[in-house]
Amino acid sequence: MMSYSCVNTTNCCKIATNILVAFTFPFLYLLFIVIPIFGGMKHLIAPSILAADFANLQRDIQMLNQSEADWIHVDIMDGLFVPNISFGFPVVEAVNKYATKPLDVHLMITDPDRYLKSFADRGAAHITVHYEACTHLNRTVQAIKELGCTAGVALNPHTPVALLEDIIADVDLVLIMSVNPGFGGQKFISNTYKKIEQLKVLCSLQNPDLFIEVDGGVNLQNTPELVKAGANVLVAGNFVFSSGNPTATIQELKQI
Ligand code: DX5
Ligand code: ZN
Repeated sequence: MMSYSCVNTTNCCKIATNILVAFTFPFLYLLFIVIPIFGGMKHLIAPSILAADFANLQRDIQMLNQSEADWIHVDIMDGLFVPNISFGFPVVEAVNKYATKPLDVHLMITDPDRYLKSFADRGAAHITVHYEACTHLNRTVQAIKELGCTAGVALNPHTPVALLEDIIADVDLVLIMSVNPGFGGQKFISNTYKKIEQLKVLCSLQNPDLFIEVDGGVNLQNTPELVKAGANVLVAGNFVFSSGNPTATIQELKQI
C-alpha cells in the first residue's frame, strides 16, 4: 500500500506535468504553426521613389528608412521601352547612399542585360526585367542571380501569365503591372486580380515562395483584394508620396 506522502508526491508530479504541458503546448503551437503560417503571409510594401520629391530625396529616403516600408522601389525608364525617362545611375547611387532598406530595381528598359551589373554594383538587391524586353529571358534571369540579386520578371498588362510557364521555377519574383508602364499616378487596371490568381496557381507547385509583386495605381481601396488574390509585394508611388502623411499611409497599407 502506498504511503500518504508518496501519493501526494505522485499527484504533485502529475499536476506539475499538466501545468508544463498546458503552458508549453500553446507556446509551441504559436511558434511552429501560427507564426510561420500567418506571420509569414504578411505582404511587403515597396514605395516607389518615382513619386518622391527629388529636390528633397535624402529626406524622403530617410522617411522610408524610418517607416514600415520593406523595400524601396526604383523605377528606371529609358524613353524607348516606355515613353518616359526617369533617372539614371547618379540618382540610384544617391538613393543607395542613404537607404537602409533593399533597393527593388524595376528596369523598364530595352535589352536590360547591358546594365544588370551596373545596377547590382550600385546596390540593387532585387532586379526585375520586363518579359517583353528580353530576347533570352532565361539567360537574363541567370545573369541577375549570378550577380547575387533576386531575379524578377515583369509582365505588361497585355502579357498573359501563362507565358511564364517555362521560367516560373527559375525566378524569385514576378511583377504584374497594374498600369501600362512609364508613368506614376495612373488608374489601376482591374484585370490584375485575375492575373494574380492565375500566377498563384502557376507557381503553387513549382515555386510556392515566389514574390508576387503588383505595381501601379495601388491604394488603400484595392490593397485588400490584391492581398486576398495572392499579391505579397505592393508597390505604391503617388498614393504614398502625395498623401499628407506618407509614413502613416505606408503603415495603413502594411496593416491591411
Ligand atoms: C510605373 C512604375 C510604377 C510607378 C507606380 O511605370 O513602374 O512603379 O512608380 O506609381 P503609382 O503607384 O503612382 O501608380
Ligand atoms: Zn515600378
